[in-house]
Amino acid sequence: MTRPLLEFDHVEVSFDGTPVVHDVSLPVMEGEVVCIVGESGSGKSTLVRAAMGQLGRHGCVTRGDIWYGGESLPDLPARRMRQLCGTDLALVFQDCLASLAPIRRIGDQVFEGMNAHRKVSRKECDRLALEMFERLGLDDPERVLASYPFELSGGMGQRVGIAIALLGEPRVLFADEPTSALDVIAQAQVVRLLARVNRELGTTIVLVTHNMAVVEAIADHVLVLRGGTVEEFGPAQQVLQTPAAAYTRELIAATPRLAAGCV
Ligand SMILES: Nc1ncnc2c1ncn2[C@@H]1O[C@H](COP(=O)(O)OP(=O)(O)OP(=O)(O)O)[C@@H](O)[C@H]1O
Ligand SMILES: [Mg+2]
Repeated sequence: MTRPLLEFDHVEVSFDGTPVVHDVSLPVMEGEVVCIVGESGSGKSTLVRAAMGQLGRHGCVTRGDIWYGGESLPDLPARRMRQLCGTDLALVFQDCLASLAPIRRIGDQVFEGMNAHRKVSRKECDRLALEMFERLGLDDPERVLASYPFELSGGMGQRVGIAIALLGEPRVLFADEPTSALDVIAQAQVVRLLARVNRELGTTIVLVTHNMAVVEAIADHVLVLRGGTVEEFGPAQQVLQTPAAAYTRELIAATPRLAAGCV
């Protein structure tokens, strides 16, 4: 049997010594889309941040491991993690605007991000960024490129974050609620683009969402978290059609529909 590209192996994550994620195991196969769902505070962001080494000073993986192609991500030296970030692993933060440098224009930040991994001229970088912004449904791409983060709405910032991550063409994309600040049309555009990137580039996607309609549209597997523990994990169709946990049934019942025909 092929090994997962990425594997959370009995992971416990703690902040200041207090565990918030308990014994979570999650295999992610190359080229698939795995969705992580669950109520607010269930540990979704913590899991993806743990994989990216982005837990901050107070958080760490206290048990288990997170494997990526034979390397233990929590044990990696910072230098190796920096090498992987952007090209192998990329994260779209839940709050994209806050993750951008506040006093630098978007275009400069996109250019800096791209140049960290491949040599590209400013002109070519702007062209690729404008094309990506358009695909993500941003209305005035030139203005966005020339803007400072504070001049963008939350939904615009979310799409800029997605664009920056996708322009690095990472092997694994972690996206933490990338559609939560978007209207239904923009949500559908983003989900459609992620599905296309997955299909055409083979990008493995780990997507955090509250929205079971997004799961239905895009996921191969789904992990349901509650209170930092695994409530349920399985193929998306199985979990959606015959959920084993009462909590999953509640989540499905509470979900609004995605704009029709989105993928
Ligand atoms: N930096 C931190 N310091 C201390 N506790 C934290 C920190 N970040 C997260 N936590 C705690 O970890 C738990 C899981 O939080 P997390 O942000 O992973 O939830 P989530 O599932 O992403 O929620 P949401 O859907 O609201 O984004 C919560 O109890 C939260 O208070
Ligand atoms: Mg979160």
